[in-house]
Amino acid sequence: EAASKGGYPHFMIKEIYEQPQAVRDTYEGNVEDPALGRVSSAILSANKVIVVAAGTSYHAGLVFSSLLARRAGILAHTIISSELPYLVDSIDGGDLVIAVSQSGETYDTLEAVRKAKERGAAVVGVTNVLGSALDRESQLRLYTRAGPEIGVAATKTFLSQVMLLELLSIRAGEASGRLRPSEANELLRALREVPQVLANTLEASDPVATALSKGLSGSAYILGRGLGAAIAREGALKVKEIAYVHAEAYPAGESKHGPIALVERGFPVFIVATSDAREVAGNAVEMAARGARVYVVKPADLGLELEGRESITRIDMPPSSGVLELEPFILTPLFQLLSYRVAVSRGYNPDKPRNLAKTVTVE
Ligand code: G6P
Repeated sequence: EAASKGGYPHFMIKEIYEQPQAVRDTYEGNVEDPALGRVSSAILSANKVIVVAAGTSYHAGLVFSSLLARRAGILAHTIISSELPYLVDSIDGGDLVIAVSQSGETYDTLEAVRKAKERGAAVVGVTNVLGSALDRESQLRLYTRAGPEIGVAATKTFLSQVMLLELLSIRAGEASGRLRPSEANELLRALREVPQVLANTLEASDPVATALSKGLSGSAYILGRGLGAAIAREGALKVKEIAYVHAEAYPAGESKHGPIALVERGFPVFIVATSDAREVAGNAVEMAARGARVYVVKPADLGLELEGRESITRIDMPPSSGVLELEPFILTPLFQLLSYRVAVSRGYNPDKPRNLAKTVTVE
């Protein structure tokens, strides 16, 4: 087993550091694949586009909704697989269900797919495992090609899903006529740089994660808006499942509708700032005004109005040049590494978190 960890103490950290290679393989394996074009056409001709997924894959689905709306002007409803049965009456022939599952074996997602198929919907399977149950159930298939993931927490498969779904949203944008071919090519060129951007991000994130891991206990909020809200949710899931620290993510604009009541001096609040939502600066300031310990995680070149707040710590990650598609890769690894560093420093096994399974094949 030690050998397959390639010198790393755990699979999770090995897989975190494999991310540059994983996303390169996803990019190269898909960018010219005609299947992307077929799925884009299906998206454009569908009455409704519904994404179903569980856990981390659900967060990749949320990233997709955000980018598909922006690039193709299409609203995809991203729904947690186990909730689909309660909404299934709204689905019929003419709708497209995109099921995202790294394993392709998650019971909830397979059930959602079967129920949607009974209603006549067409299914696209997005998996990391060729020949998996989801793969077999689907009419159209896309593969993330991240290589096998052993750690229970999804890391490299998440960013590979993000890469693949970004490629899809760009293709759909092009097919919709909203993105000019030159704009689409520019985005694809930016995505080609992701392996390097990710390598730089890992280097920048790890020391910060180690420093932050010492002070993380109790409870924390992880907030964002737009694309940042999806990244925040994935960050909070990692922190809960691996570090056993209660972290709650919700769209930052909701603070004033309830959650801010919980904030008192020293309460940790992470703000995931993306270039589609500079308004998070206001949320950071309002949290700081209540005494929260605020950390704003952002691309270095994203300007935010945070003036005059000494209790706000800026965590600058590599720049994104305002390319939204780069930002999940720039902002996610900090939370992966933070949860890993907390787990290791407290003696938990990050590869096998308590009560969790890599793939849940039962109801
Ligand atoms: C389990 C794992 C999660 C994973 C989820 C969905 O709960 O612990 O890490 O995100 O299943 O898995 P899938 O294979 O469908 O992406």
